[in-house]
Amino acid sequence: MKDLPTRQQRQRQHLATADMATQAIRAGTMSGVEQEHNDAIYATSSFVYGSAEEAAACFGGQQEGNIYSRFTNPTVRVFEQRMAAMEGGERAVAASSGMGALTSIFLGHLKQGDHIVSSCSIFGSIIGLFDNVLAKLGITTTYVSPTDIKAWKDALQDNTKMLFLESPSNPLGEVGDIKKLALLAHSCDALLVVDNCFCTPILQNPLSMGADIVMHSATKYIDGQGRCVGGVVIGSNTLMEPVFAFLRTAGTTMSPFNAWVFLNGLETLSLRMQAHCQSALRLATWLEAQPQVERVYYTGLPSHAQHALAQQQQRWFGGVVSFEVVGDKSVAWRCIDNTQLMSITGNFGDAKSTITHPATTTHGKMTPEARSLAGIKDNLIRVSVGLEAYDDIEADLAQALTQL
Ligand SMILES: Cc1ncc(COP(=O)(O)O)c(C=O)c1O
Repeated sequence: MKDLPTRQQRQRQHLATADMATQAIRAGTMSGVEQEHNDAIYATSSFVYGSAEEAAACFGGQQEGNIYSRFTNPTVRVFEQRMAAMEGGERAVAASSGMGALTSIFLGHLKQGDHIVSSCSIFGSIIGLFDNVLAKLGITTTYVSPTDIKAWKDALQDNTKMLFLESPSNPLGEVGDIKKLALLAHSCDALLVVDNCFCTPILQNPLSMGADIVMHSATKYIDGQGRCVGGVVIGSNTLMEPVFAFLRTAGTTMSPFNAWVFLNGLETLSLRMQAHCQSALRLATWLEAQPQVERVYYTGLPSHAQHALAQQQQRWFGGVVSFEVVGDKSVAWRCIDNTQLMSITGNFGDAKSTITHPATTTHGKMTPEARSLAGIKDNLIRVSVGLEAYDDIEADLAQALTQL
């Protein structure tokens, strides 16, 4: 036990320059008093002190130490440290869900009278957060196409404090130019926030391209097996402070158990993303050749409008493929119902392949106008390509399409 601190220091040094796959397994790992190899779950709401003086020092911030698991928990902290290392940020703040992470960013950084310019191609509940919650507090949002830089520029107002982008977007894989949007945001002292759910840090690091804050719904690929809901925000110490301050007061906190599940998920993230990406590219290529399919949306296809930009910004193209069937909503629903292997569910990033009809599920709460602006048609189907054998995935869709 005596040489443990030195060994930990050596490991930290090694990890500072290690590959992302290595960081996903080891960054932030603690070695606890029980010499456990895997990370421990600290299932405790509070922490004890040796004296009233020590308690006062911890609560007062003069001494480092755990206080209360709404805002300090060792298991959650390891998850935060690992995510910060992987995204190249100084600090990460874990949250109860992706939406909890977003709420903490917006309410931590914005106030009445502020304005957001947001991509119109974002997760439906975020539009609900902007239009139903932030709007009531006097924070307004203008929506623009993620790919139209001029539209972003034209939407800027004197009170614009934040630009919000999801790239690639759900479900059409539209890619926003992160470097250009960061420059635009900084030209008016605004922050660029990027939702990096679809890529994970394995495929894309928005902070390295100039974004100020990056967030994830850990519920997706970071878990990877559809077990827990969680979120995380990453950025500089300065920008994370208001996010953390909001979270510690509002209680949008990640549980230690969920942090532990995500830590174990991260250990296989690199390998899983490679497999998701390989199968998704094969499936997208195959779908393009099917007569029942009108159009395929996958950033890895040369036919995708932002294929070249995706090649620049991302290491690979991700695991989600969307396609329009020839026909209307009823044909899309029939295709989904015809599948036998895939799970009909709105989640993505799971080891199990999932299939959904975005217009009536994940994006069902959007107004028809907002959906149309985002290009989500009634004949669109989204497949999150899982880790089953590729031939089984293709065979399932082949029989579903043939029966239409
Ligand atoms: C791109 C994206 N961002 C954020 C969220 C919100 O995450 P959560 O469901 O963990 O609150 C989702 C959820 O599906 C999502 O798809």
